Amino acid sequence: MSYLMSNYAPLEVTFVKGEGCHLTDTKGDQYLDALSGVGVVGLGHCHKDITAAIQTQASELLHTSNWYRIEHQETLAEKLCQLANMDAAFFGNSGAEANEAAIKIARLHGHANNINNPVILTANQSFHGRTMATLSATGNIKVQNGFAPLVSEFIHIDFNDVDAIKAHTNNANVVAVMLEPIQGESGVIIPADDYLNQVQAICQANNWLLILDEVQTGIGRTGKLFAHEYNSITPDVLTLAKGLGNGVPIGACLAKGKAAGLFQPGSHGSTFGGNPLVCQTALSVLKVIEKDDILSNAIQMGKYLATGFKSKLADSNKVLEIRAKGLMLAIELNQDCTSLLNAALDKKLLINITGQSIRLLPPLIINKAEADTIINTVCELIDTV
Ligand SMILES: Cc1ncc(COP(=O)(O)O)c(C=O)c1O
Repeated sequence: MSYLMSNYAPLEVTFVKGEGCHLTDTKGDQYLDALSGVGVVGLGHCHKDITAAIQTQASELLHTSNWYRIEHQETLAEKLCQLANMDAAFFGNSGAEANEAAIKIARLHGHANNINNPVILTANQSFHGRTMATLSATGNIKVQNGFAPLVSEFIHIDFNDVDAIKAHTNNANVVAVMLEPIQGESGVIIPADDYLNQVQAICQANNWLLILDEVQTGIGRTGKLFAHEYNSITPDVLTLAKGLGNGVPIGACLAKGKAAGLFQPGSHGSTFGGNPLVCQTALSVLKVIEKDDILSNAIQMGKYLATGFKSKLADSNKVLEIRAKGLMLAIELNQDCTSLLNAALDKKLLINITGQSIRLLPPLIINKAEADTIINTVCELIDTV
């Protein structure tokens, strides 16, 4: 009998060691990790610089409190704001907490403009987290089922549909639009190239905040540090988590201009958020990304994987679509392929299945030989469906 609550249904494997793109289980078997702990360990498992940063910081200072100044937090805020062209940062411990902060900022923005019932537009099939506000923002009934009453004043619109957003410009209560640049959990849904540009123009014309949830797409996952760089835009609010700590829990909510000054002492907080350990770790993640030109590898290996899959699966009558941006990839089949999860595990490959799609988020440090193994194994798996 397990003393754990039943909210997860883990596969029958326990990993005890990780190195680069590989994990070793309790039996000593090695697996290729094409999921990175769901987009988290971008630099691979136990990267030596990150381990060293954690060890050094752990021996100096783990935690004080946000009641005192925290040097590494200030440095990380400055670094992230410079990289993202933002003005101010708040740190929490997860993607959901980063988005909670963004939602609170949007509501403060509304109240600052005498809007008493501020409404946020979010997308169908989106995923923003599991707290009450973020699951209410999430456009997926499965995530919301059983948790009514939801947090109100979220209106869900179709993703990649500019007119669906324009249809709300006469609603005086709307204060923000919150979107993932690419929808991750729903299977790597990539919008039209200029979608975010058009959404930003609508936001600017209506004094709405553009909130981009880059919890999954951020920190190099798409081949740019932030996915919105493909659109040459700067959002008003940007949320990050997953890859930022390479496995150490950290979430960040960055804000620009009018959105950056809305939190005042007492408006928001987190006991653990932004402590010396996680901030020093995140700083070392950003350093490695720069030093080792990780983004170039993500772009090259992303293209290599996408091209490999496209050529090998060109004649497959089971494949509907291959979607890829950097190292965020999905292969959509013409049928449910949930059974491939265990089949992949038998072949010592870690992947994710979202309904009909195989989703891959390999570490950003992946090399060609590892990419070849992923391509060959996934194609073999598709043959068995
Ligand atoms: C886009 C997006 N936002 C938010 C979250 C929630 O992050 P966390 O699980 O760290 O709370 C996720 C997690 O998958 C995500 O993909």
